[in-house]
Amino acid sequence: MSLTLEHATDRPARLRAAWDAAWNRGEVDALDAVLSPGYVRRRGPAGTAQDRAGFKDSISAVREAFPDLHTEIEDLVVDGDRLAVRWRSTGRHTDTFMGVPPTGRPVEVSGATFARFDGDTVTEESVTFDSRQLLEALGIITTAHEAAVDADLVKGVHRKFITGVTVVTTDDDGTPKGLAVNAFSSISLDPPMVLVCVQRSSSTHPALHRATHIGINILAADQLDVAKVFASKGTDKFAALDWAPGEHGAPLLDGSAARLEVEIGERLEAGSHTVFTGRVVSAGHSELAPLVYSGGGFFDISQTAPLPW
Ligand SMILES: Cc1cc2nc3c(=O)[nH]c(=O)nc-3n(C[C@H](O)[C@H](O)[C@H](O)COP(=O)(O)O)c2cc1C
Repeated sequence: MSLTLEHATDRPARLRAAWDAAWNRGEVDALDAVLSPGYVRRRGPAGTAQDRAGFKDSISAVREAFPDLHTEIEDLVVDGDRLAVRWRSTGRHTDTFMGVPPTGRPVEVSGATFARFDGDTVTEESVTFDSRQLLEALGIITTAHEAAVDADLVKGVHRKFITGVTVVTTDDDGTPKGLAVNAFSSISLDPPMVLVCVQRSSSTHPALHRATHIGINILAADQLDVAKVFASKGTDKFAALDWAPGEHGAPLLDGSAARLEVEIGERLEAGSHTVFTGRVVSAGHSELAPLVYSGGGFFDISQTAPLPW
């Protein structure tokens, strides 16, 4: 039996009911029950803001172009006044959309929405999705063809790039969670910002997606065992380790070469991964040499010869 707004009393159920009514049945006025009159929606960091009426119009426009549109909520988390939703939409393009005449093509787009409640209704929301998926499906861009480079060749290229190894962690409602990540980079120093890329298939991913803060532990050369634990799918990867929560609650591993706590800013859906960007809110490093990862192997940097320059 489908949920009706009258019977949906708690926030997640009311949101799911309104979402289903608006996106899947085109009953956009159902959103009035869950979005405040002053509601504002933003797409991406630089996206233009939409008000409630504008949002409803855009749903109607999408549904006109994709009449069999089906949007599924894959995960919905309410934490106090904050809301996170992971969603996936499918539909066939049978009417003009973004100036593109009907292509008849099936389209699939996934993304995430982060919102804030004021009382019983949502006042602001930011949405992120992989627009490349949509643009490619409509034939507006053709990166799939241009990027049709053999995957093994690309892998071979990546093996030439040397990285360290980090363990990205979060406190998931009292349970420490984490995985090994070498896709870590500094973005800027002022303000101090970094990013990590995490595959959506990782069992740590949902916890990271709902987190406000993450820990990034840069492993030391003698922490190969730790790297192996966090590159596996164990249920309690922290059991045999010494660790403690940082100032902002993210699990920090003893004996790492350096560590950061990061307040998550953007969660960008890109290909099979989510790119988490954020602001560094605590930092520390030791004298220990970092563990090095290159060409699928691990190395101790203190054994390498420095080059003069
Ligand atoms: C050196 C190394 C680097 C890795 N880097 C990443 C990465 O950047 N992003 C990612 O999603 N997975 C990365 N992985 C793979 C994950 O650590 C691995 O899939 C792990 O089992 C995920 O655990 P989970 O499913 O419990 O989260 C890396 C693994 C190794 C060994």
